[in-house]
Parts: sequence; structure tokens; C-alpha cells
Amino acid sequence: MRFHPRHAAAGVSTRTVGRVGTPRGADYSLPMTTDAILSSAAAPGADYAATASEAYRAALRVIESVEPRIAAATRQELADQRESLKLIASENYASPAVLLTMGTWLSDKYAEGTVGHRFYAGCQNVDEIEAIAAEHARELFGAPYAYVQPHSGIDANLVAFWAILATRVEVPALGEAGVKNVNDLSEAEWERLRAKLGSQRLMGMSLDAGGHLTHGFRPNISGKMFQQRSYGTDPVTGLLDYDAIAAAAREFKPLILVAGYSAYPRRVNFATMRDIADEVGATLMVDMAHFSGLVAGKVFTGDEDPVPHAHIVTTTTHKSLRGPRGGLVLATAEYSDAVDKGCPMVLGGPLEHVIAAKAVAFAEARQHSFRAYAQRVADNAQAFADGLMRRGATLITGGTDNHIVLLDVQSFGLTGRQAESALLESGIVTNRNSIPADPNGAWYTSGIRFGTSALTTRGFGPAEFDRVAELVVEVLSNTTADGTSKAKYTLVDSASDWVRAAAGELLDANPLYPGLTL
Ligand SMILES: Cc1ncc(COP(=O)(O)O)c(C=O)c1O
Repeated sequence: MRFHPRHAAAGVSTRTVGRVGTPRGADYSLPMTTDAILSSAAAPGADYAATASEAYRAALRVIESVEPRIAAATRQELADQRESLKLIASENYASPAVLLTMGTWLSDKYAEGTVGHRFYAGCQNVDEIEAIAAEHARELFGAPYAYVQPHSGIDANLVAFWAILATRVEVPALGEAGVKNVNDLSEAEWERLRAKLGSQRLMGMSLDAGGHLTHGFRPNISGKMFQQRSYGTDPVTGLLDYDAIAAAAREFKPLILVAGYSAYPRRVNFATMRDIADEVGATLMVDMAHFSGLVAGKVFTGDEDPVPHAHIVTTTTHKSLRGPRGGLVLATAEYSDAVDKGCPMVLGGPLEHVIAAKAVAFAEARQHSFRAYAQRVADNAQAFADGLMRRGATLITGGTDNHIVLLDVQSFGLTGRQAESALLESGIVTNRNSIPADPNGAWYTSGIRFGTSALTTRGFGPAEFDRVAELVVEVLSNTTADGTSKAKYTLVDSASDWVRAAAGELLDANPLYPGLTL
């Protein structure tokens, strides 16, 4: 976030804002033993696998004594995850330390409110946990303020939207009416304010160019809250065209300009996005749900790091960041008081067991080893993209410079749906995805989205990803569409068998949670 003098002068709460003790980029020092544990670029956990195994065995025995089917399905999920080549761009494998942190009595607490300002008594321990998680988040990302309560990415975006609406629409309206609280408005004033809140404009990346449903699209609540307009990508290069975005923003004049994506295989210049936002008087909100691990790991720096440029940054914690399933909001001082009211404004009681796990994951991400991991995620994506293109595949934008690779499967004569199913049948887990101007629509699609975060956690490097590219092309080259169906296909058995066996070799050489036995 840009440190404008106005932020420093805003007089924000000292509860969670403003103390950035460790200079950005310095590593957090974990207790000696833990530091040694986290020394490798691959998944942390190998060094304490024996202890984690004991913990999981005991936990599963306890669960089994109450509902054996849940224990059985939980065991089976680990077996299944170990046996599949997971290339889902939004998934990862959190460390056993992160996972174990979630299984405690912290789940039993109700803690509406925020650190030191709760609507419930008895929150002294969760106050401490939440303060530690926020401190780690601030220092990890170099942000003046961090809000760790969102239950997911969607929730984080809702908190951000309403914090912006509160700051830019509600607070001025209260000022005009000469009152401090919405409850002090007359019925007529309140209805006028509600109408104003409901008629604001938001501009974000179009869905088929890689934007996200929560960026103002009609099936999501964001599309019902805002009048929305999209910016797309250049039809020839597939890249963001900042001049076109600026022109669209000048015409539409959004209150909120959203940057961020779920299926765009390139980096974004957030300094330029901020310039566009400033020119039209918009608040720049960046949803870095997908790439926050690359920001935390310092792969994206300068103009590619959203934190110094945006007013508000949201993220999930479970994708490239490799934490527990959850959300996070970072904000400038200007928006921090409004964000701090996320619960109960739009969120239910905070999930303190998950917030504790976020603190552990952020502590892991502050280790030097996480930077090595993040760089390897990006290097692996390059190797994978090169491997696909060398074998004749067509990639949207002609490559990647983040963790995502978006394959256009039309040259194989397939829809995304057929390609996704054929790959799954061969042990390769992906998801179909729209491509710009997709002729097959959002359900069948013409693309497959790949991500390298999860297999990098398993220890895959560029050579392994080149082999995965070979397997993907082998499957798709041996798959044919059945007639005019967009879903049915025929996959040559021998190709599928060979790919399964080759994938198995890669997986065996790079085990998930090495040393963990149930
Ligand atoms: C860019 C972006 N924002 C928000 C979300 C929503 O995250 P969650 O599923 O945790 O609500 C996603 C998830 O796919 C995403 O990719």
C-alpha cells in the first residue's frame, strides 16, 4: 500500500495497525528446533513426521471411537491425495503443523469483535492468537494493517467491499446528516443511504479473461451489490492492455477498481493499476487469492507486489500461500477501522482454530525456505509451459510468468470438459476453464487450467514438470471427441495405462507428507 502522508495522519487504532517491527524482507526467527525443521524448499514436515504420525494415529483412533466412517474417509482422502498428480491451481498441501493447529478447542470459542474489543468475555487467549496472526501477516507482506478473520476468499472480498462502501459512502452520509451512527438517521435519510450504497460501480477483470466471480458478476452477491463493468485482455496477445483499462475506467468511473485473477497466467503491474484508480477517483482493491504465495515469497516485487500500491488487498490463505483454508485482508490506515468491523458487519464469529493455523502458516512463510519454494513454483510453471509448447500445445498468452498455465485444448479437437475427464481418467487432476472469447461457454469451456503450487510442495522440480507436460500431451493426443458431444470422448486405453504408470513413478519419487504413516 502506498504510504501517503494521509495514511500516517489518519490516527488509526493501535490495536492491530501500524507496527511493522521487522523490516520487510527480514526472516522471522522461529524457535531453533522449528527453524531447522523448515529448512527445505519442499513441504515442511519431513523432520517431524514421526511425531505427526503419532498425533494423527491417536486422533484417528479417537474419531473412530465415535464415528468410524469419518475416520475411514479421512484416511482414504490422504491415500487418494498421495496417489494423484494434483495440478489444480487453487490447491496446495498445508504442513502437518498447520493442519494439526486446526484440531483444537479453539474451535469452541465465540469471539465476535476484534482483538481487545469483543462482544464476549473470556477471549484473552484468542486475543493473543489473533494478534500474533495479524502481526505475522503484517510483517510477511509489509502491510500497515492485517485482518485475519475472514473465513474464506469470498468473505475477505465481502469485508473489503463493505469497508470501502462504509468509508466512501456511509461515513460521508453520516457527516452530512450530522450524526455518528446509522441508528441516528431518520427513516428517509436511511433509505437514501441504502439506495446510495446499492448504486455504486465496480470494475474488474472479465470472467473469460481470468477474473473471479466475486469481482462483480451476477451469480455472485457482488454482482447484485454493484453496477459492474469488466475489462478484458488484448484479443491478439491475451495480455492486459492498460491503456484500454484506463480508457474504460475513465468512461465508467468506478468507485472500486479490482485487480487480480483466478486464471490469468501473467503478472500484473499494480503501480499502473493504482495510477488508473487515482485518475478516476477509484479505490484500488487487489484480490491476490491466487498469487499471495508468490508475493510472500518475494517472487513478485516492485510494481508486481500489490501491497505497496493498493488501498486494500484480499487473499485466500490456502492456495499458493500454503496455509489453512481461509481469508485475509490487508489495508491502509484509511480503511483499517472499517475492515476491523468485518465481524459482525458481514462475517459470523471468527474461526479461532483456523486463525491459529494461519499464524503458523504465516510463520512458515516468513522463513527463507518459503522464498525458495515460491521461486520454484514459478520456475516449475515455466518448465511446464515450455514442455507443453515444445510438444505443440497452444497456451493462452503464449506462456506463463506466475504459477498458472492455461492450455487451449481446441487444437486437440476437444472441449475443456472432455480434456479434464480424459486427464482425470489417467490420474491427472486439473480443472476445465474458460479461455477469452470461449466458443464453448463457461460449462464445457475450451481450456484447462494448471497450477504448480501443490506438486512443487511435493518436491517436483523443472525436470519432473517437463515429464508431466509429456504425460498431458500424451493423454490429449490420444483422446477424441465422440461425434458432436461436448462431454463424451474416447481415450486410447494403452495411452491412459502408460500415463498412469508414469505418473505413479513421479509420485512415488516425491511422496506427499514423507514419513507420515497412519
Ligand atoms: C481470485 C479469487 N478470489 C476469491 C476466491 C474465493 O475463495 P474461497 O473459495 O476461499 O471463498 C477465489 C477462489 O477460487 C479466487 O480465485
